[in-house]
Amino acid sequence: MKWPDELIFIPNSRMAQKTTTARMDGRVCVITGATSGVGYHAAKRLAKGGARLVLVCRNAEKAAHVKDELEGEYRTSVRILQADFSRLAEVRKTAVTILEEYPRIDVLINNAGIHNTRRTLTKNRIETVFCVNHLASFLFTRLLLPKLLESAPARIIQVNSQGHRFGGLDLNDLNWEKRRYRGLQGYGASKVAQLLTIWELADRLQGTGVTINAMHPGAVRTNIGMNNGLLYQWYQRLLIWPILKAPRISGEAIYYLAAAPEMAEVSGRFFNLTIDEKPAAHALDRALGKQVWKISETLTGLA
Ligand SMILES: NC(=O)c1ccc[n+]([C@@H]2O[C@H](COP(=O)([O-])OP(=O)(O)OC[C@H]3O[C@@H](n4cnc5c(N)ncnc54)[C@H](OP(=O)(O)O)[C@@H]3O)[C@@H](O)[C@H]2O)c1
Repeated sequence: MKWPDELIFIPNSRMAQKTTTARMDGRVCVITGATSGVGYHAAKRLAKGGARLVLVCRNAEKAAHVKDELEGEYRTSVRILQADFSRLAEVRKTAVTILEEYPRIDVLINNAGIHNTRRTLTKNRIETVFCVNHLASFLFTRLLLPKLLESAPARIIQVNSQGHRFGGLDLNDLNWEKRRYRGLQGYGASKVAQLLTIWELADRLQGTGVTINAMHPGAVRTNIGMNNGLLYQWYQRLLIWPILKAPRISGEAIYYLAAAPEMAEVSGRFFNLTIDEKPAAHALDRALGKQVWKISETLTGLA
């Protein structure tokens, strides 16, 4: 049976995943949001593979536990940097610390992300999901880019989502002032914006030895959404979690994208775990992508 493009993620999610035996000894990997779920499992797998980790986390206490666990279990060093990615000033501060203290970055994994059922605004009056999921990763990547270029070959992995297929991106209403906020669409908008800017950056990085790819980490049992109301938490716990997979598969997939020799020159692609997949048509609109790039530069102060 030939699946239509819009549904291709269904057969892809059932395919056998690729793995690698390549090691990451001594490679410096920066991961955001490593205190839970996908980011935690990516950190664990990279530590097992020998990587040196810089974990950018919002919750210092949870991060300290992860550091203790990984340093205890594997022969690696784990550095924690605390930052709340709903505050772009903290993204900047963290990037400065990394640029000053690390001579190289081999892999950057932008993973921190949220899903809100209700619209909230950050201190800078940006819709929070758009800020954390897209603007923060956009800014962080751009600020770390000089070091990634110096370190080439280097890889950037954006933990995106099949949620980009929900759409929701309206450049005239990024803050959802003209529309009723819908959580899945707010989430979708942030992931579409991220994808559109990935294609832009991939073009700019051609020939530099630095690659950038997006990945969907599978439908996995994590804490995403558990910041929402009790009803939503109940629904997630009872109805959603039982049908989701264990997030260890996300860690394995991220490891493959970060370490596999055959991925060294692959850039500007979307992966369903490790399967190369065509994203939704609205996330491939390059004219829209150029506008999103400009707006993202303005909103993050890069312009
Ligand atoms: N789970 C899935 O099925 C699924 C599917 C598609 C895509 N994804 C993507 O996977 C990524 C990871 O999500 P997850 O499912 O692993 O959820 P999770 O268990 O909730 O983990 C999210 C991570 O992001 C951190 N984070 C959240 N808000 C932050 C902020 N303002 N500043 C800094 N860090 C922040 C969290 O820190 P705290 O521990 O402090 O909360 C946590 O470490 C997200 O980008 C998500 O969109 C997940």
